[in-house]
Amino acid sequence: MCGIVGYIADENVTGVIIEGLKKLEYRGYDSAGIALCNDNNLLVRKKKGRIANLEDLIRDEGLFSHTGIGHTRWATHGEPSDRNSHPHTDMSGRIAVVHNGIIENYAELKEELMAEHGSVFRSDTDTEVAAHLIGVYYDGSNLEDAVYQATQKMRGAYAFGVISADEPDKIVAARKDSPLIVGLGKRGNFIASDIPALLKYVRQIYLIENNELVVLKENEVKIFNADREEVHRDVFNVTWDADAAEKEGYDHFMLKEIHEQPSGIRDTLIRRLDEQGEIVLDGIDLTKEEIEKFDNVYIVACGTAYHAGLIGKFAIEKLAHIHVEVDVASEFRYRDPYIDENTLFIAISQSGETLDTLGALRMAKEKGARIMSVVNVVGSSIARESDDVFYTWAGPEIAVASTKAYTTQLVCMYLIALYMGRKKEVLSDELYHEYLEELSAIPEKLEKYLKNQEQVETVASKLYQQDHAFFIGRGVDSAVALEGSLKLKEISYINSFAIAAGELKHGTIALIEKGTPVIALATQQSLLEKTVSNIQEVKARGAHVFAIAQEGCEEALKDADEFVVIPQCMDDVSPILAIVPLQLFAYYIARFRGCDIDKPKNLAKSVTVE
Ligand code: G6P
Repeated sequence: MCGIVGYIADENVTGVIIEGLKKLEYRGYDSAGIALCNDNNLLVRKKKGRIANLEDLIRDEGLFSHTGIGHTRWATHGEPSDRNSHPHTDMSGRIAVVHNGIIENYAELKEELMAEHGSVFRSDTDTEVAAHLIGVYYDGSNLEDAVYQATQKMRGAYAFGVISADEPDKIVAARKDSPLIVGLGKRGNFIASDIPALLKYVRQIYLIENNELVVLKENEVKIFNADREEVHRDVFNVTWDADAAEKEGYDHFMLKEIHEQPSGIRDTLIRRLDEQGEIVLDGIDLTKEEIEKFDNVYIVACGTAYHAGLIGKFAIEKLAHIHVEVDVASEFRYRDPYIDENTLFIAISQSGETLDTLGALRMAKEKGARIMSVVNVVGSSIARESDDVFYTWAGPEIAVASTKAYTTQLVCMYLIALYMGRKKEVLSDELYHEYLEELSAIPEKLEKYLKNQEQVETVASKLYQQDHAFFIGRGVDSAVALEGSLKLKEISYINSFAIAAGELKHGTIALIEKGTPVIALATQQSLLEKTVSNIQEVKARGAHVFAIAQEGCEEALKDADEFVVIPQCMDDVSPILAIVPLQLFAYYIARFRGCDIDKPKNLAKSVTVE
């Protein structure tokens, strides 16, 4: 997730901007840059890697300016590199832009700019397209008008900071669906992606709303709405300390990331559906003939990503009619699986650096498989070594327990399955469109659900002192049960076990006794009666049942001791919704137990050893 800092003041802004960027490091980034107005010229300095690399680059230059913008980049379009780093400039090189977000229609705009204005692009980014577009509308004296005109042509999400060498007395900023704040300082005014960047300098903030545009001068800030009318904004006084500010007021990164899932899912879907409703798998280049050739798919991953693979199997087998096996990477790489050139190997990895997954990928590649990966970190090792890469756009995940990476991985798996089924012509139009409608509706459903999470907290308050828990479910719910159980054990240290509900009676049920917590996933309407029977089996042995079902199925769950409902949806996509109460359940249990939620003992976020 990119970070923006801009500053206009009666002092040299260079060092302050760099300090601000450092405070945004926690968001994750792969390059950093700065643009300054200097003697009617624009100076742009940017560098791949840490902010320290940028500091090294400018150390001996003695840069001085009253107006500047800075950026830390989390790559989405184009690999992490010096040339893809922000700021980007327009054709004239006199306007600089920093951007956080994704311009959905950047390819169209790029074509148009090349055809009509002879634009020549120096990077692979959507941001450079925005810079050129602003340049096209700029008359040298009204930067805010140019930014306004340009944003009217854009679809997608953005927070922009823009400066021009011709008007060094202003910074223009604009926002739609990406975070942006304005800070009111003693010696000037700031823009930033979030509060931690500015805490050292300001406590008075304007929170910028969607579709607003801001013009900042040293002594003045003006905010305009979508109709270009100036609006009044109350000052927000920040009382948080630096640590709380990084978490945007949430107590833990895990909770913040759970709440970021609607936007992560939206971002992952964005630009993957064109205006005709067809799936565009950027980064994946498979023809109908190539897909038809695959007679075997291996999905290989570790931990939470492996659990996403289990759902991927359901989706690909059902929608694309190809046999799929899902393997834990540490096992796959040492078991001599049958692989040939008709094999599609799909690696799933948040970090893109997990050594076992990378090892399995290399082995499959050597044996001739086509390598596809679903990865969150752009330019990571797994992404680089794959033939096709499909990115989850979850943004950086900081808590060790994976949440938003998982739900965005699920979205990717459904999209890949739908794409392959459609290309192979084995999927009806009706089912294809039904799936897409269901997926598109999920962010909003999840937003609503997350507003009402107290129920899960109450259930957790009753069960947090238990030493054991069992998770059961049928169909895709059995895979969700595994992920729910992993969440609970990794952050609360409760001994937790997940099993397909129908398999309980073959041994595990012997462990159920009075008061044993059983978390029953019952979101599959088509299997509801069978799951209810399994609930009765454990109830008969004294279990304390916490059930999760779709809205409208309450009656069938009257035997459960506790239950929460998720919004109604198609059974097949319910895992994206059903996991959320389980993430919250694990979170609140761990919290009641006083655990270190974001950094559980013995665990690492990225496992780069065997
Ligand atoms: C570690 C993390 C898990 C993650 C797994 C795989 O164990 O703690 O949350 O699921 O690695 O990581 P990857 O980056 O490959 O998805």
